[in-house]
Amino acid sequence: MRYFRSAALFPLFLSALATSAPASNAVVAARDTSNFISRLENTLEGLGSITKGVLQEVDLLIGALRDVAEGKIDPVKTTEEALGSLSNVRNASEAGLVGVAIDLVTKGLAPKNIVDLLTGINEESINSMNNSNPIDPQTSIYPKDSTDAPYDQTEEDLRAAIYIPESFKYGADGKRPILLVPGTGDPAGVSYYFNFEKLIPETDFADAVWLNIPQNSLTDIQFTTQYIAYAMNYIAGICNTTIGVIATSQGNVGVQWALKYWPSTRDSVEDYLALSADFHGTLFAPECLLPNAGCTPAVMQQQYESEFIKTLRSDGGDSAYVPTTSVYSGPDEVVTPQTDPNASAMLNDAHGVGVSNTQVQLACPGMPAGGFYPHAGLLVNPITWALFVDAMTHEGPGNLSRIDMDSVCDRLVTKGLVLTDVLGTNIAIILNSVVHILEYGYHGSSEEPAIRDYARQS
Ligand SMILES: *[C@@H]1O[C@H](CO)[C@@H](O)[C@H](O)[C@H]1NC(C)=O
Ligand SMILES: *[C@@H]1O[C@H](CO)[C@@H](O)[C@H](O)[C@H]1NC(C)=O
Ligand SMILES: *[C@@H]1O[C@H](CO)[C@@H](O)[C@H](O)[C@H]1NC(C)=O
Ligand SMILES: *[C@@H]1O[C@H](CO)[C@@H](O)[C@H](O)[C@H]1NC(C)=O
Ligand SMILES: *[C@@H]1O[C@H](CO)[C@@H](O)[C@H](O)[C@H]1NC(C)=O
Repeated sequence: MRYFRSAALFPLFLSALATSAPASNAVVAARDTSNFISRLENTLEGLGSITKGVLQEVDLLIGALRDVAEGKIDPVKTTEEALGSLSNVRNASEAGLVGVAIDLVTKGLAPKNIVDLLTGINEESINSMNNSNPIDPQTSIYPKDSTDAPYDQTEEDLRAAIYIPESFKYGADGKRPILLVPGTGDPAGVSYYFNFEKLIPETDFADAVWLNIPQNSLTDIQFTTQYIAYAMNYIAGICNTTIGVIATSQGNVGVQWALKYWPSTRDSVEDYLALSADFHGTLFAPECLLPNAGCTPAVMQQQYESEFIKTLRSDGGDSAYVPTTSVYSGPDEVVTPQTDPNASAMLNDAHGVGVSNTQVQLACPGMPAGGFYPHAGLLVNPITWALFVDAMTHEGPGNLSRIDMDSVCDRLVTKGLVLTDVLGTNIAIILNSVVHILEYGYHGSSEEPAIRDYARQS
């Protein structure tokens, strides 16, 4: 057998699978809506009239997933092989997001139990958008301050998106609460499952909660940011302390927008770690000239010169509002440019709060940690983790000068993470976001949503 044996090599997956269908039924259970392949198949009907190209690609993706399940594609066996294979994945402007997903699967980056894995992890309560959070902050935060932008969702809705694990201590043990914010197409539960949700409980300084934002951050980002703004003030409010925030990909334009237009949140956040951020949008976002399944409002808003991005960056929005540690990878296949000095993830410091911008290839040139890390793969990069630890344990942003770079640069992935986490991080984020984008469908407009009144230039 050249494949992984799930019990021996994927112990993490077992808990994810506890609630899912038995393995043998997973691929054949055609119309079971919880099954990942069935969900992909169901999207084909909805796509019918849109684009033939996408239809064929989704068919290819389904075929590739079946090939993995049937043992026709051998998964990689080491993290070195995994990162090598990842470097052969086409970028999003060449292949589109579905093409990137196909490459991940056909290049051995999906474990043999991929279908069960995705089905199981999606069923876990960690992705719930309907959470019961009965504790009220000491003072009302809806809104917290008269200078904050208005909310148009109810407080119940905003609060229900916040997932607080049972183990959370509300700051009582001296650990800083950390809010995990997801990117385009995913809830935070699955996005951080194989990385920060696994690593943070092992620390003595951080304690994580996360956001599962309705519509998976595919709709108007101005809708999504309300959840982020509310959650920052809610967690700080119920813990009576400042918090840390970690965001990946689109989550970062969401956090930055929230910090800009809900100024009260700046008092709630002491440290912000921005991963693979697109503060300047991305040149890879599809043009959306024709109706296209990939053109959700949030995708259009992340184009390099979108109105949303221009508005965000205006009046100092291209500078940090709280101490910010931005980490990114040059060969990012989704966000481009992502190389210094023009990296989309780079923030200025006009407000003087402290910023560090780190492109991992420049931090560890020619070393393992400075190698090929794709968009989601940055979550398992050892420099990312070292900067997080440094930022959380010092005033201001993370600073490489305090970090033992010899030992950090020498690692391929963060200590404590294994191959399953590397594969799971990439596959779960990309494949889930593909299925969510296809399920979201085409909403009938090729124009990005209008900028809301509160953010209009006077
Ligand atoms: C994306 O891939 C194409 C084809 O390999 C290449 O020409 C282009 O430079 C790539 N873009 C980036 C930003 O890497
Ligand atoms: C959310 O949870 C409540 C109970 O906590 C339940 O009554 C309601 O139906 C749930 N809503 C959804 C959309 O699942
Ligand atoms: C909240 O924190 C402040 C500042 O540390 C402290 O003065 C206050 O007593 C705390 N309130 C509660 C209810 O813990
Ligand atoms: C970076 O951006 C500046 C200003 O937009 C431009 O002049 C410069 O050519 C860019 N540099 C690179 C390496 O793309
Ligand atoms: C990092 O620390 C060095 C040495 O104290 C300091 O000169 C530098 O400004 C710091 N960088 C950032 C981004 O804070």
